[in-house]
Amino acid sequence: MPGLFIAFEGGDGAGKSTQAALLAKTLSDAGRTVLRTREPGGTPVGEKLRSLVLDHGQGEIDAKTEALIFAAARAAHASQVIAPAVARGEVVITDRYADSSIAYQGAGRGLGTADITKLNDWAASGLWPDLTVLLDVAPSEGRQRRTAGDAAEDRLESEPDDFHAAIRAAFLDLAAASPERYLVLPANSAVEELAGAVGRRIAELLQERGRQGAA
Ligand code: TYD
Repeated sequence: MPGLFIAFEGGDGAGKSTQAALLAKTLSDAGRTVLRTREPGGTPVGEKLRSLVLDHGQGEIDAKTEALIFAAARAAHASQVIAPAVARGEVVITDRYADSSIAYQGAGRGLGTADITKLNDWAASGLWPDLTVLLDVAPSEGRQRRTAGDAAEDRLESEPDDFHAAIRAAFLDLAAASPERYLVLPANSAVEELAGAVGRRIAELLQERGRQGAA
């Protein structure tokens, strides 16, 4: 069976990890080998870069340095983890990928979405997801959802709402530019409803890939 690469994207507090976990369970129950991973992270060097860029108190990190740290973590993740798993025929489900850099560093930090797209295409050696599930969340709602939990906000989360509004718009622009590679869902729908929509779209994609593989 052909491998598949799926990314979950969206603003902070959109519920990506919940949906990624539900999809992983559905697919492994159906007999697929699933690899769940996240960014930044997924490799030993990626996890170190993650704490460097997300934890408070590392000293000033300017926008370009931040973009390069995320891209460095992604380069390792793509070449050491994602590409080999897809080549083995597994389904890789990642919580965030390059679109997060395009939205957060390109739009949010103002580095420009075109440059950040190019940087990440190079870093990931041209590896892009087969499908990206975008859980669209309004900034105020995202903040409410994440602070209702336990967690303290990391360096990026604690940015103001207008930063998060720019990110939201950038994600929606990416999806609108390539609708065949995105599934956009309102993050405030019921968990089961979202999981159903994601499951249906992935089933379609797997069928399509299976037919292509057989042809
Ligand atoms: P996330 O995985 O959502 O962390 P947590 O679930 O622990 O809050 O992502 C961490 C933050 O990093 C999030 O605010 C988005 C940001 N980020 C970027 O700015 N650029 C990137 O390329 C990635 C992958 C994440």
